[in-house]
Amino acid sequence: MRNIIPSWTCEYDLKRNRDTYLKLINNVFDSGRLLLGNQLIEFEKNFSEYIGTKYSVGCDNATNAIFLILKAIGIDQGDEVITVANTAIPTVSAIKQANARPIFVDVNKNGLIDIDKLPGLISARTKAIIIVHLYGYPVNFDALIKYKKTHGLTIIEDCSQAHGAKINSRKVGSIGDFSAFSFYPTKSLGAFGDAGIICTNNLSKYNLLKELRFYGIEKDYIAKVDGYNSRMDEIQAAILNYKLTKLDQNIAHRKKIANLYYQNINSELLNPIPHPKNSNCSYYLIPFYFKKDRDIFQKDLEKNGIITNVSYKTPVHLMPAYKDLGYKYGDLPLTEYHCDHNISLPVFDYMPLDFVEHIVDKVNSICRNY
Ligand SMILES: Cc1ncc(COP(=O)(O)O)c(C=O)c1O
Repeated sequence: MRNIIPSWTCEYDLKRNRDTYLKLINNVFDSGRLLLGNQLIEFEKNFSEYIGTKYSVGCDNATNAIFLILKAIGIDQGDEVITVANTAIPTVSAIKQANARPIFVDVNKNGLIDIDKLPGLISARTKAIIIVHLYGYPVNFDALIKYKKTHGLTIIEDCSQAHGAKINSRKVGSIGDFSAFSFYPTKSLGAFGDAGIICTNNLSKYNLLKELRFYGIEKDYIAKVDGYNSRMDEIQAAILNYKLTKLDQNIAHRKKIANLYYQNINSELLNPIPHPKNSNCSYYLIPFYFKKDRDIFQKDLEKNGIITNVSYKTPVHLMPAYKDLGYKYGDLPLTEYHCDHNISLPVFDYMPLDFVEHIVDKVNSICRNY
């Protein structure tokens, strides 16, 4: 057994696939095309097919993918975008970057947006809602459709943590008006650097998004709109194209690991955060609620060579950068409870199953001593 089991590593992926990745990188070198070439075109096509949307626009990362979506729907000063504070900072920073005001809604026992709490938050200024499928847990947002109709809202899915997850048998990323995915290296579909993508069925917005990601250019190096630079490079696209073919089998391996944790951890102090109803989670993380002092538990595991993940310790509404939004502790009680108690055990692609056995033994014996 190795001395330290990290919460995430690409070591075991590289052990198995390094030669394939090197070959793919060499192919890109030999093609002489490093940006906006055939690798990206292929990946956009394959990813759309996998998710079940008509179009995809490869980007440099998901933060900018969300930002570009907000620009494409005309978000501007004074507009409001509703999302959760129990998310990665970039869901919120993209809203600020687009000059809009983030409005936070509390979460439910799954740690996901509580649709029932939305009515009091939607105003004439609300233009969009960003649903975050956290941890690989998909949100059921069927109930949102009625607000969409009555208030003309755009629904954006932040699928950065949920590649391949399904709700009511539909893949996340294919349900809202637009979706954004991150391919940050730790994700279930991870690049070896930064990358992201937008999916949509809207042809005119797809064309606009392609322009927005490349200086506003439609063709012949003439800017049709005021644009940005948000291209995915060919090396990442080539690697992602290959990794996409392994995604379902990697999700199945993650599920096996999760079930081993669920079946063999026998302390009532540590309980899996419940999966949403009718969901097929993608197990990006395997999160639990810990009932006692989470920080002590995390340190005790670390002393035993097991590194865990807390997502997130501080919710975005309580971070100094967002003080101007006027939120305080107590405004989003379930979000805050979630941040105080969540802890995720290690999971990564090609993780050896004897690591899981070792982690279960250590967790059970540490918990027995509390
Ligand atoms: C929920 C969520 N949204 C957005 C992002 C931003 O992704 P990127 O790092 O590709 O910009 C992340 C990445 O951590 C994320 O987890």
